[in-house]
Amino acid sequence: MTSITVELNERSYPIHITSGSLGQFNKFLPKHNQQLCIITNPTVAQYYLQPLLDSLTEFSVTVFEMPDGEQYKSLSIYSDVMDHLIAAGLNRDCAIVALGGGVVGDMAGFVAATFQRGVDFYQIPTTLLAQVDSSVGGKTAVNHSQGKNLIGAFYQPKAVLIDAQCLQTLTERDYLSGLAEVIKYGIIYDAEFFSWLEHHTAELKMRDANTLMSAIQRSCEIKALIVADDEREQGVRALLNLGHTFGHAIEAASHYGEWTHGEAVAAGTIIASKLAEVTQQLSVSEFRRLFNLFSALGLPTQSPDMPWSEWRDYMQRDKKVKDGKLHFILPTGIGSAAVFKDIDEQTIAAVITECC
Ligand code: NAD
Ligand code: GLY
Repeated sequence: MTSITVELNERSYPIHITSGSLGQFNKFLPKHNQQLCIITNPTVAQYYLQPLLDSLTEFSVTVFEMPDGEQYKSLSIYSDVMDHLIAAGLNRDCAIVALGGGVVGDMAGFVAATFQRGVDFYQIPTTLLAQVDSSVGGKTAVNHSQGKNLIGAFYQPKAVLIDAQCLQTLTERDYLSGLAEVIKYGIIYDAEFFSWLEHHTAELKMRDANTLMSAIQRSCEIKALIVADDEREQGVRALLNLGHTFGHAIEAASHYGEWTHGEAVAAGTIIASKLAEVTQQLSVSEFRRLFNLFSALGLPTQSPDMPWSEWRDYMQRDKKVKDGKLHFILPTGIGSAAVFKDIDEQTIAAVITECC
């Protein structure tokens, strides 16, 4: 087991990275959290709920299974969870445990942030995306019909408990989607890690256990450093949104279903990187390396074709708009990135056309 600390003073917490230890996660839960509510979904529950429950015999446990899918990260399901917690008689000393991917984690976190004005929260992420990104850093939210993650809170977990073996049951699409976020850390922060990923594409594709442990560890180390530096996204944390402005437009245009989050981020990162190449932040050969890595890992590199006006409308609705201006995160080399606000529309439109 490897442990990493997210350093946030009195709210600091550990990320424990293991392989095959899900059934021993009880030892990380303090005894004062006698009442637990596990929030999960049927897809995850069929594999991992019973082993977790078997290890929690000394706790009083209730389970809420939300339906599986991004569309259920909603206020309506949030309200159902609250009804469940109140009916089960949970008090302020209870803890909410998220067992699932980013959808379950975001919902459970928002529930924990708001039930009885905030109760303890533990993340047991079971997708690669959740293990390397969404379970760390305290962003919690549900969606609104007008946009993704519009209702939420920053609320840090007490611990993140990762069992990398859970990744073996993911569908190919969901697994590859998580790799897009792993590559992101190499691009924005760590050239050496990027190069390591380039040399381990075969092992990553076959979900080799040791390679996965290393990739998860380095990703979590980088995320922990960035969150410790800028918990509320006033500065450097924005870099974690590389490819997301374009990616969210792709997700919204496809009505959140056709493209997974990671696929949209991959295609969005290619647009951001092309824009960086055209504006001379990135060399032609660096762009090629980025493109080749996404391609080698079977991630989409081409965005869906839609008119510029549609792209602009979707991007304007994204949370990254400030003072009416679109902000873009662009790589400024392999291993670094920065925020750009004054790119002219013609250039963006031309790059998007090239990437569709
Ligand atoms: P997801 O939670 O929908 O999971 C993808 C699919 O995998 C689902 O069908 C799920 O049931 C299934 N699944 C989960 N674990 C499994 C396992 N071990 N074996 C088999 N199937 C499994 O999607 P995701 O990609 O994990 O998360 C996407 C969500 O995360 C989005 O809502 C996005 O907004 C959010 N997100 C949040 C943050 C954050 O910082 N809070 C960061 C990135 C993304
Ligand atoms: N996934 C982006 C963030 O945590 O800030």
